[in-house]
Amino acid sequence: MNSAKREKLGFGSKAVYYAPDAETQSINMPIYMSSSFQYTAESYQRVVDGERKEVNIYGRCGNPAEYQFEEQMMQIEGADACLATASGMAAISVALFGLLKSGDHIVCDWTTYSSTHEMLDHRLTDYGITTTFVNMADVDAVAAAIQDNTKVLYMETIANPTMKVAAIPPLVKLAHERGIVVICDNTFASPYVIRPLEWGVDLVLESATKFIGGHSDAIGGTICMKSDILPADFLEQIRWNTMVKLGSPISPFSAWLLLRGIQTLHVRVERMCQTAMTLAKYFETHPKVNQVWYPGLPSHPQHDIAVAQMPKFGGMLTFAVKDADAAVKVLGTLELATFAASLGGVRTTTQIPATMAFLDIPEEQLASMNISQGMIRVSTGLEDAADLIADFEQALAKI
Ligand SMILES: Cc1ncc(COP(=O)(O)O)c(C=O)c1O
Repeated sequence: MNSAKREKLGFGSKAVYYAPDAETQSINMPIYMSSSFQYTAESYQRVVDGERKEVNIYGRCGNPAEYQFEEQMMQIEGADACLATASGMAAISVALFGLLKSGDHIVCDWTTYSSTHEMLDHRLTDYGITTTFVNMADVDAVAAAIQDNTKVLYMETIANPTMKVAAIPPLVKLAHERGIVVICDNTFASPYVIRPLEWGVDLVLESATKFIGGHSDAIGGTICMKSDILPADFLEQIRWNTMVKLGSPISPFSAWLLLRGIQTLHVRVERMCQTAMTLAKYFETHPKVNQVWYPGLPSHPQHDIAVAQMPKFGGMLTFAVKDADAAVKVLGTLELATFAASLGGVRTTTQIPATMAFLDIPEEQLASMNISQGMIRVSTGLEDAADLIADFEQALAKI
């Protein structure tokens, strides 16, 4: 199928389409578990001429399953280019180290995934790159935080774990008027729920480990780009000058597993969105639950923004019980949902952000990020909603 036809396909068709392997006619991408590739006269000449794109040289620079994974991700994100990495954190690191230099400044939301927050708040400061943390839902506060040396506006489309949804268009406008690159981590939503590049974002990052892989068996990440302010070959530049140098390529086997995951992403996430909405409504009426955060609920602080920019509300939700002890008791009592790190898999997983992912961040700082000790994060899986409700019902009855 030619690329113009492919472009017009719906999300699901793009996700499953694969032109069989020309050599073997295999209808699935073969995996080449090879760390090194033999040069041909032609590939050698291309490398010498600096045309290294998709030339198989050495596993750290790329591999065939990775290129196919990048192609499929470009299709479902609506991107012009994609770079796959070893993990979601590798995508974040490669994007930031590739873009920034000492003296640069980032404006970022108060709440992001804990390792991202620590990367901005600690690691990057060691290299002279500073960050101002603001409430991205407040566009005036973002405008006030921008400095002459601000190079990046960074946010999560649905923030982990507070479920905050910032309005993308005014932030993009504000940033682009000043030549600032907008980066969105779309992990909590997935490209089925929102495609930030269509809203003007320059770089969208995914921890493909989560919804894209979908089966809790592979780690990987992607950086997808569609940008008027970055050079067209920006991702190729950072593939060679940052990803290859940091040594963070995706393994062929992970790329292959993630390719398989993409094919069912739309079906899985559709069902997860329905279950998340059912659970959110259930928690909202439960007497032991103090608060529920789900963008699809009218009670969510940015519900109107979510309705305007997201056709779906995602498979993630958060609710709060009275304190950390009660949260541990509930999660330890669940029999169907699994008390475990990570998200986006076929099994419902739960965790306590304050004492798990955010353990290294002091309690007062967490409170300022709206993360309470009794907050519970739920990643809805593919179980039946009625069985999940029965499971939470028996667990909440214990506190
Ligand atoms: C929003 C978000 N971004 C990035 C990551 C990092 O992804 P990975 O574990 O694949 O490095 C996570 C991990 O939980 C996440 O929740």
